[in-house]
Amino acid sequence: MTDTKIEHKIAVYPGTFDPITYGHIDIMNRASNIFSNVIVAVAEDSEKKPVFSIEERMSFIKNVVQEGKKHNIEIDSFPGLLVDYLKKMKAHIIIRGLRVFTDFDHEFALASINKKLFPDIETIILMTNEKYSFISSSLIKEVAKLGGSIKDYVPEIVANALVKKLQM
Ligand code: COA
Repeated sequence: MTDTKIEHKIAVYPGTFDPITYGHIDIMNRASNIFSNVIVAVAEDSEKKPVFSIEERMSFIKNVVQEGKKHNIEIDSFPGLLVDYLKKMKAHIIIRGLRVFTDFDHEFALASINKKLFPDIETIILMTNEKYSFISSSLIKEVAKLGGSIKDYVPEIVANALVKKLQM
C-alpha cells in the first residue's frame, strides 16, 4: 500500500475479543494501514462473562500481531469506561467494525453515548469483510463446543485453545 497513513493519529480498536476472530483481525489490519498507531484495547469489565481470561485474550491477539509483523499495533486492556481509556491514552478515534445491517443500531448507540461522554472523540466504522460478516465470537464458541470445525474463522492457536476449554 502507498503511504497514505494518517500520521500521528492513534486509533483505539476496543472489544471483548472472546476470542479474536479473523473478522476482528481483518478490521485491525485495515485500521493499521490507515492510522500511525492502532491500540487493540480489550475490555476488562464486560457484561458478557468471557470464557477466556483477560490475559488469554490479550495473548491470542499478541500472537496474531507478531505473526502479521504489524509494528504499529499495540495490545492493551482497560477497566471501566472506554472514553476514560481514550482520555488516558490521549486518543480521539475509536474503530469499530460493522458486519450486517442489524449491527447498525447497536453501533450507533455506542458511538452516540461515547460522543456524549467525551465530545472530542470520533467513531470510525470499517465495513467487515463479507467473508466474515456472519461470524461472531459467540457463534464460534458454540460451534467449537459442539465439535464443529472453526479453522476458517479463528487462528489455529485460538481454535486449539477453544477446543481445550470448551470440550473438556
Ligand atoms: N468480525 C467478526 N465478528 C465481529 C466483528 C468482525 N469484524 N465485529 C464485531 N464482531 C463480533 C464480536 O466478536 C462480538 O461477538 P459476541 O457478541 O459474540 O461476543 C460482537 O460482534 C460485537 O459485540 P459488541 O458487544 O458490540 O462489542 P464487543 O464485545 O466487541 O465490545 C465494547 C464492546 C467492549 C467496545 C463496549 O462494551 C465497551 O466499550 N465497554 C466498556 C464500557 C463502556 O465504555 N461502555 C460504553 C458506554 S455504556
